[in-house]
Amino acid sequence: MLIRTATEADLPGVLEIHAHAVARSTAIFTEVPPDLQGRRDWLAAHSEPGRSAIVAVEGDLVVGYGSVGPFHAKPGYRHTVENSVYVREGHQGRGTGRALMESLIASSREAGHHVMVALVEAGNEGSARLHRSLGFEDAGLLREVGTKFGRWLDLRYMTLRLDDAPADPPPDRPSPTDRGGGEAAQRPSGAAAKPPAPAPRGARPAQSDEWPSCREGPFSRGG
Ligand SMILES: CC(C)(COP(=O)(O)OP(=O)(O)OC[C@H]1O[C@@H](n2cnc3c(N)ncnc32)[C@H](O)[C@@H]1OP(=O)(O)O)[C@@H](O)C(=O)NCCC(=O)NCCS
Repeated sequence: MLIRTATEADLPGVLEIHAHAVARSTAIFTEVPPDLQGRRDWLAAHSEPGRSAIVAVEGDLVVGYGSVGPFHAKPGYRHTVENSVYVREGHQGRGTGRALMESLIASSREAGHHVMVALVEAGNEGSARLHRSLGFEDAGLLREVGTKFGRWLDLRYMTLRLDDAPADPPPDRPSPTDRGGGEAAQRPSGAAAKPPAPAPRGARPAQSDEWPSCREGPFSRGG
């Protein structure tokens, strides 16, 4: 098995895995079948600096994929990323999910991110155990915030501290995931505010009808 950056040629395989998770599991909070354009959008959205889209391949077969992108669109969240990871049915339980996660964590540390967040459907014990085994801590449970297959779903927040940063945030510096205007959160209160640069119009968020756990976008614009 090889872990590498995802390419356009991998997208049909990624789509098969993704479509299976949508149709059969509560890992992704939608029942709308995904399409190839959605996976193209996913790849584009996760190919920007500080983000990643990776695949696990065995020969020509994509057996898993994962990604890391911004946790939130607001600048104050710019040192936090969110991950997702999926392994093809029939290939689970062989270390692929762990290998993908280890690669995502290593590249996120290298990129200088501070915290990684995983949003895991509360009944997804396999994913919760995978994340815990990599050092993620349970950070809260949101009850009945999702629905699929005619029932309510709870969402577990899990977090992993990526760096050994001191208690205070680092001095202003552009974050690898910053889409513009990222300096505001670290300005001392009362300091003159420079208007934030407008966010570039990047690739449209992947699958805007999705609100999955271990989501892949849209990157939140709320609070
Ligand atoms: C969850 C998932 C990514 C794990 O990947 P995987 O390749 O099957 O897992 P691995 O073989 O790498 O196992 C790593 C660890 O995960 C945990 N784990 C994985 N599957 C598990 C299961 N079914 N039950 C309990 N623990 C499980 C274990 O702690 C395991 O460590 P161990 O083998 O030392 O006990 C994969 O099963 C999957 O894609 N599931 C469906 C989609 C999904 O839920 N994605 C995550 C959304 S948040």
